[in-house]
Amino acid sequence: MSPEEIIIESPDGNVIEPLHSEARWQKQGEPVEPISVDWLLAEEHHRIYGRPWILGRFYMDFLVAHGLAPNDRVLDLGCGAGRVGIWLIPYLERGRYFGIDWHLKSLAAFARYEAKLHDLAHKAPRLMLSANFEVDRFGETFDVALDFYVTRHLTLEQTEAAYRKVRAVLRTGGRFFLPHAPQLDEAKLAGLGLALSESEEASYPLLGEISKNILSTDHWHILRAV
Ligand SMILES: C[S@@+](CC[C@H](N)C(=O)[O-])C[C@H]1O[C@@H](n2cnc3c(N)ncnc32)[C@H](O)[C@@H]1O
Repeated sequence: MSPEEIIIESPDGNVIEPLHSEARWQKQGEPVEPISVDWLLAEEHHRIYGRPWILGRFYMDFLVAHGLAPNDRVLDLGCGAGRVGIWLIPYLERGRYFGIDWHLKSLAAFARYEAKLHDLAHKAPRLMLSANFEVDRFGETFDVALDFYVTRHLTLEQTEAAYRKVRAVLRTGGRFFLPHAPQLDEAKLAGLGLALSESEEASYPLLGEISKNILSTDHWHILRAV
């Protein structure tokens, strides 16, 4: 793979070649099929999250309005195909973006297609395929972590385990942004070293005007590592 491309790492430090990958990397329950360039070019990954691709832009605006700085080191938990990453990476200094997800097809769309479209490789973002939120394998500590409707689909136990791992790599004082309420109550969060510092309603342009019935607002929660 040429150095102009973003690699997808495995937690044990190997490079995953997405278009030639084994069936075991497919998300559980998904039909086993090769990841084709045709699939990437069709931009189907823009339509897999329920809410539109442009929401990533609005999420980015929220983060910047709440003090995200170019020198922050950002952990994008469940980064998917880069709906927010495509905005974060150009804004952040080189080597400050870290995305992790368990869905190889999404990471392939991010690394092979979106990175090309948005000229992201020179900012040296890192992407990791991991089913268990092995965020420590980046070998970094973070100023900001994101959970954008990732743990909302997990059990309480899975969420607690994931947040424990996030807290272990989030510096004290660092912030954890969620566009929804955390699954864990205050006491559970406190036990992990996380405290709610702000909550705020945000409503997004365009989304309230479309014919499809989708959420055009979010109730953001910002946790702080204490
Ligand atoms: C609603 S999408 C959000 C994607 C992206 N953060 C965004 O805001 O556009 C949720 C993402 O979480 C990922 N995800 C869900 N469960 C996961 C798990 N256990 N480990 C890693 N990623 C997971 C999914 O593959 C998907 O990419």
